[in-house]
Amino acid sequence: MSKNKLVLGLQWGDEGKGKIVDLLAAEADIIARFQGGANAGHTIIVDDKKYILHLIPSGIIHPDKECYIGNGVVLDPFAFIEELKFLESHNISYKGRLWLSPAAHLVLPFHKLIDSVEETTRGTSSIGTTKRGIGPAYVDKVARQGIRVADLFNPDRLKKRLELHKKIKGRYLEGSDDERADIDRTYKELLEIAPVLEPFVVDVSLKLYQDYQKGRKILFEGAQGGLLDVDLGTYPFATSSNTTTGGALTGLGINLKMIDEVLGVVKAYCSRVGAGPFPTELVNETGEKFRHHGDEYGASTGRPRRCGWLDLVALRYTCRINGVDSIAVTKIDVLDNFDSINVCTGYELDGKSLSEVPLDLADLAHVTPVYQTLPGWSEETTGLTKFDTLPAKAKDYLKFVADDLKVRIALVSTGAKRNETIFV
Ligand code: GDP
Ligand code: IMO
Ligand code: MG
Repeated sequence: MSKNKLVLGLQWGDEGKGKIVDLLAAEADIIARFQGGANAGHTIIVDDKKYILHLIPSGIIHPDKECYIGNGVVLDPFAFIEELKFLESHNISYKGRLWLSPAAHLVLPFHKLIDSVEETTRGTSSIGTTKRGIGPAYVDKVARQGIRVADLFNPDRLKKRLELHKKIKGRYLEGSDDERADIDRTYKELLEIAPVLEPFVVDVSLKLYQDYQKGRKILFEGAQGGLLDVDLGTYPFATSSNTTTGGALTGLGINLKMIDEVLGVVKAYCSRVGAGPFPTELVNETGEKFRHHGDEYGASTGRPRRCGWLDLVALRYTCRINGVDSIAVTKIDVLDNFDSINVCTGYELDGKSLSEVPLDLADLAHVTPVYQTLPGWSEETTGLTKFDTLPAKAKDYLKFVADDLKVRIALVSTGAKRNETIFV
């Protein structure tokens, strides 16, 4: 492994980042998460144990790694405590190796309520959010009225800030009998849990810089995927954070020299949860086949994921904006039972051929994908660990993707378990 690696999803999330980060964490000293919140669901399967992490970096399963949660993350403190309990229930000790930025913004119960109310209000234009309060918490951050981890340890300041929210959020909260609307109750609950969070709080930016100077290996862990980036994704059908390379810098307070390599995680086909354009979506038996064989149900919300063929045009874009050096291709085994496999190599829009995403990404809703059909391999790849043992046509598929994207394939995942992996 080159020194400090940034691992990012290159599609619409759920590419298998959790598995890849867990694997690469074996060679790192530190794993640092920089954006998103409990909207993420990162699955790691070791032997027969399954772990789904939402906020805590996917390196935590390794007993000797340090894990950081940066200022760019929006932290639901109650969900964080639940996740600590989940780790305890699996005998995973996190004491003295899990750290939290005081500048991370809090996702509070009223944010989740507002997320739900706003989704209902949007009606047929709803985004299909995870209802984890992510958008409303980032809105407060950008509006400079957010409540941060550091505020937990200053009860007067916390109270003052929450009082302000009673006024600002009045239209959502007044008259509601939903307990999440009760800010006084939230205040009391926050004071109760503040001592639980306090030992985790450190200057993440400074600690990471010191680690870097000591030559310790850092793995930067992204959540969601490039096409969900709030600036560069399929807005407004996006999440509320920067899921791309820039987000790692601002979300941890690191400088760009601290990242040596960018590794993108690519599912061998495409999936998306929630609403928004998806050019290669298959609303037919083939889509069902992906969902069934790929077990495509949300790790956080259990929602069925929409599925479709691999989209190289979208991937050219996310490779470019992230500066991707290499990719990990996951779920190749899900393509085992196809006579032929389509790959989207271009779009047509208003009678014109496109090899790059359209000027207005919203036009992805109107493009027609142009496919190249490759032969399937109709052989089982599940659990393979050596590149040479892959069927020749599976190797051809991978080569086709890598050549088009002009990236190196660093890993191929042949199953959900940690050891079902080919290091190329
Ligand atoms: P993440 O959000 O990017 O970490 O991905 P998720 O955990 O939400 O979704 C990926 C799903 O695919 C999980 O259920 C994983 O256990 C599973 N998975 C990961 N890699 C593979 C693979 O190579 N093959 C198969 N069949 N499943 C995989
Ligand atoms: P991981 O890290 C897939 C999607 C939601 C919705 C949109 C906005 O597991 O890959 P939000 O709750 O963030 O306001 O929802 O983004 N979304 C994800 N889709 N994987 C995720 O995370 C996602 N996090 C958010 O489904 O369409
Ligand atoms: Mg996920």
